[in-house]
Amino acid sequence: MAKGKVLLVLYEGGEHAIQERKLLGSLENELGIIRGYIEEQGYELVSTSDKDPEPNSIVDKELADAEIVITTPFFPAYITKTRIANAPKLKMAITAGVGSDHVDLNAANERKITVTEVTGSNVVSVAEHVIMTILVLVRNFVPAHEQAINGKWDIAAAAKQEYDLEDKVISTVGAGRIGYRVLERLVAFNPKKLYYYDYQELPADAIKKLNDLSLILNGRGDIVERVADLGDMVSRSDIVTINCPLHEKSRGLFNKELISKMKKGSYLVNTARGAITIEQDVADAVNSGHLAGYGGDVWYPQPAPPDHPWRSMKNPYGGGNAMTPHVSGTSLDAQARYSQGVKNILESYFTGKHDYRPQDVIVIDGDYATKAYGQRK
Ligand code: NAI
Repeated sequence: MAKGKVLLVLYEGGEHAIQERKLLGSLENELGIIRGYIEEQGYELVSTSDKDPEPNSIVDKELADAEIVITTPFFPAYITKTRIANAPKLKMAITAGVGSDHVDLNAANERKITVTEVTGSNVVSVAEHVIMTILVLVRNFVPAHEQAINGKWDIAAAAKQEYDLEDKVISTVGAGRIGYRVLERLVAFNPKKLYYYDYQELPADAIKKLNDLSLILNGRGDIVERVADLGDMVSRSDIVTINCPLHEKSRGLFNKELISKMKKGSYLVNTARGAITIEQDVADAVNSGHLAGYGGDVWYPQPAPPDHPWRSMKNPYGGGNAMTPHVSGTSLDAQARYSQGVKNILESYFTGKHDYRPQDVIVIDGDYATKAYGQRK
């Protein structure tokens, strides 16, 4: 008789998971070394991709007596208040990756369920994707690429909305691990100004590093500035990138009203969470040309439905859509890191030491352990 049950929810990798065993985030490869390890501890491991719809999925059935649930943000099992209520033995939810908003954190707190993630495991991966997405939009890559593979050669059509990233004003909502890495990488492009909006101030030495780097590379110092008002920041920016977690205060933040304050012809990049924006308001802004483009990899829900408005949105020139499925934080390098991180968390749990890395703990003992999920008393 097993001591308890661990439920692991991952996407099906199919032939790809067989071709590439480093695809650890797939159901077939089960985060690498984890099955043997869990079974050695006397626990049963149940893995599934059947997570939707609630309440008729295998996840719903298996949660009924699971002690630990592990899922990824890329293909999240939404651990809702109802699912938590129906999981009386649940003690821990582990995110294989970064961003635990798929768990109802307040409901987890009420039940004193610990929520952990592998903080830092994919922050470089995401920052690289942000830079790529900004370039894809500003350089108008997609329409030009479509020409290349479709036998066309119409320079004017592609170049009429192609700009340089140099000398633009770029801002980030959230300047934590990812936001800061985005700023760091942007310095190399010689921006006019880098703004950030965050209720947590960046340390003075972090700002100095960016300004010094800019002085060395571009001959301009003082490029980084904190802005207290979000509407003010977006109204001054050519490009805005969202890098904060999803929580009560950031849900639906980029709605029609805030987007209307953005400069006409500016770009919005979101690799944080889809629900930080109002999806139809974003699509309307791109379709009308108020935004020259929107890109990122996060949607709500995931997988996104085939008729999600971001799949078909285009600016009036036929470009401006740089969406991908949720892949930025799941490069093969990142998968190795978050799989190892999950194992480390499990070790802390099974040994009874609960000596998690402090940065991995999102909620514990009925309260938030992080300052990143909104300002709280
Ligand atoms: P972090 O905790 O290092 O930084 C988050 C920052 O956002 C903090 O400084 C916090 O104060 C700030 N913040 C929170 N609410 C805010 C608000 N309403 N306005 C402005 N700033 C706010 O987190 P990290 O590692 O930078 O990740 C950020 C988010 O990115 C994750 O929570 C997750 O949602 C998303 N993410 C997406 C991935 C992907 O594959 N697309 C992978 C990893 C993370």
